[in-house]
Amino acid sequence: VVAEGSRRELEAIARLSRSLLEATDLGEQLGLSIRLAADALDADRGSIMLVDLESGELEITYAEGPPEEMVGQTVPRGDGIAGWVALHNEPVVVHGEVEDPRFEGVNPSLKSALSIPMFSNGIVLGVLNLVRESGERFEEEDLRFATSLTDMASVAIEKASLYARLRDREARMSRLLEAAIGAQEQERRRIAAEIHDGFLQDLSGMFLKIERTRSLLQRGQVDEAIEITEGVQNDIRDQVKGIRDFIFEVRPPSLDQIGLAPTMEAMLNRVASDNGLKGYFSSDLGPDRLVESIETILYRTAQEALRNVIKHAGATEVYVKLDRKDSRVILEIEDNGVGFDTSTKKKGHFGMDTMRERIELAGGDFHVMPRPGRGTILSAILPLE
Ligand SMILES: Nc1ncnc2c1ncn2[C@@H]1O[C@H](COP(=O)(O)OP(=O)(O)O)[C@@H](O)[C@H]1O
Ligand SMILES: [Mg+2]
Repeated sequence: VVAEGSRRELEAIARLSRSLLEATDLGEQLGLSIRLAADALDADRGSIMLVDLESGELEITYAEGPPEEMVGQTVPRGDGIAGWVALHNEPVVVHGEVEDPRFEGVNPSLKSALSIPMFSNGIVLGVLNLVRESGERFEEEDLRFATSLTDMASVAIEKASLYARLRDREARMSRLLEAAIGAQEQERRRIAAEIHDGFLQDLSGMFLKIERTRSLLQRGQVDEAIEITEGVQNDIRDQVKGIRDFIFEVRPPSLDQIGLAPTMEAMLNRVASDNGLKGYFSSDLGPDRLVESIETILYRTAQEALRNVIKHAGATEVYVKLDRKDSRVILEIEDNGVGFDTSTKKKGHFGMDTMRERIELAGGDFHVMPRPGRGTILSAILPLE
């Protein structure tokens, strides 16, 4: 024979577990939980407060009994009974005049009240509160029962946040994959086009010149043949520089061999001298190598930033600076050009977006500070790990 009290408890637990299964979203589940708990424990008022993970404050999220306007109010963690419960991850039962030195800012005429932490893996997610205005005080037995109900509601929160995290992650991963594949294809297309329109055309041109030299030599026109041969030599010299530059742009071997700072400096010097502006480089990274992926990201960022300086800034000077601070590395590219207006986003221009995406994906921060008329400062801050 099950005692009357236990039967009621079992029924309440069964009802709650059924409701939790049926309710589809967390709001509904917590609303049901507090309503059922208040009902099963003869409470006049009840509320669920959830911890805001960013601010650490407790927000009254669901209330049963008290006025509507309480919903949405926040309490600093540590304040009042619920605040104490959230901070210590321990339940509290009080009755009558509350003169407990543990709690600050508590209405002393509070009647019987229960406050129970909702937690998962030792982390407090929220607090469930029940208050009886009159009648019997909450006993240890009530606390036990209320704790069972609270634990069930905690599982619902845990499950919902796990789902949300999984969904976010999945969406992020598929966006990433798409972007990565897209970027890779675009890069290959660009390389193929460069080889086709540049080197291949030029090689064909040289082939024709040599063909002509041969027929000149057959006819004994040596001087003309020598002249054309010299031309071809110049062409080859240009080609060698072109291919070197091209390789440097695709993936400079020195990035792997001697590291980020010297490679970046060489790139800056090359870009500056090719485009008639002054380049200034400084680095306090020292001789230690960074993680390869970080070196690559920073190199690509500097490369695109310099391309922008050349293409858009009309600058006469450009500064590239590498710094290590705490456990972060900071790249800054500053030009003294025209600056621009970031509020108008150009369609079909992805350089900035790609830089930002790369940096943020690696857990860093990306800032662009255009100062119209006075140039642009671009900074990328990456954690070294
Ligand atoms: N250093 C800079 N100085 C002036 N304008 C810049 C600079 N960097 C970027 N911009 C502006 O921002 C726009 C977007 O840059 P980006 O996303 O790299 O696209 P794209 O270089 O293909 O135009 C550029 O078109 C240009 O107007
Ligand atoms: Mg660009």
